[in-house]
Amino acid sequence: MPTFHLRALEAADLEVLFGPRDRAFGEAWLKRQTQGEVYVAVCELDGIPVGRCGLDFVRQPGRADIWAAHVEPDHQSQGVGTALLQHLEAVARQRGFGRLQLGVGKENPRAQRLYERLGYAVCGEEVARWRYPDGERLVEVAEDCWLMQKTV
Ligand SMILES: CC(C)(COP(=O)(O)OP(=O)(O)OC[C@H]1O[C@@H](n2cnc3c(N)ncnc32)[C@H](O)[C@@H]1OP(=O)(O)O)[C@@H](O)C(=O)NCCC(=O)NCCS
Repeated sequence: MPTFHLRALEAADLEVLFGPRDRAFGEAWLKRQTQGEVYVAVCELDGIPVGRCGLDFVRQPGRADIWAAHVEPDHQSQGVGTALLQHLEAVARQRGFGRLQLGVGKENPRAQRLYERLGYAVCGEEVARWRYPDGERLVEVAEDCWLMQKTV
């Protein structure tokens, strides 16, 4: 059985779990984590960081929002995503949050199935928008998402 270890994001993880597209996001999340606005969980498998997922305490009062689930391709389908989500649920409960929300791309049925298996139900939809740097230019992304919630 693999041994998972769940912990908070650290500066050294930026080299391992973030690529050129999302490195700036990782740096911003570390800063927000220091300020107590978010908690970004990292899952280590046998001592190596293989996945991360964030929990935002301030985006919406009374609710904690899960975002940016990512497991390294070689380590998907081994329970890492499940372990990250269950860890974030425990952290949310400890912080006094009873309601969790996340967004999942309508064209990402595999991730949606994982969330449904863990008890999240569709409660709405939105277009998620973000930008990432590609050399000198900024690429704008708009993704149709289902919003899903769970009471923990
Ligand atoms: C979506 C994502 C975060 C899920 O992480 P994961 O580690 O692959 O998730 P899990 O392994 O916990 O579960 C996924 C599947 O593996 C299966 N699984 C879990 N543990 C397993 C094990 N020990 N043996 C075999 N299969 C297993 C689960 O049943 C599930 O199957 P399903 O695809 O039929 O639903 C990951 O695949 C990922 O990073 N994808 C790309 C980015 C992305 O889509 N992010 C989500 C944005 S909302």
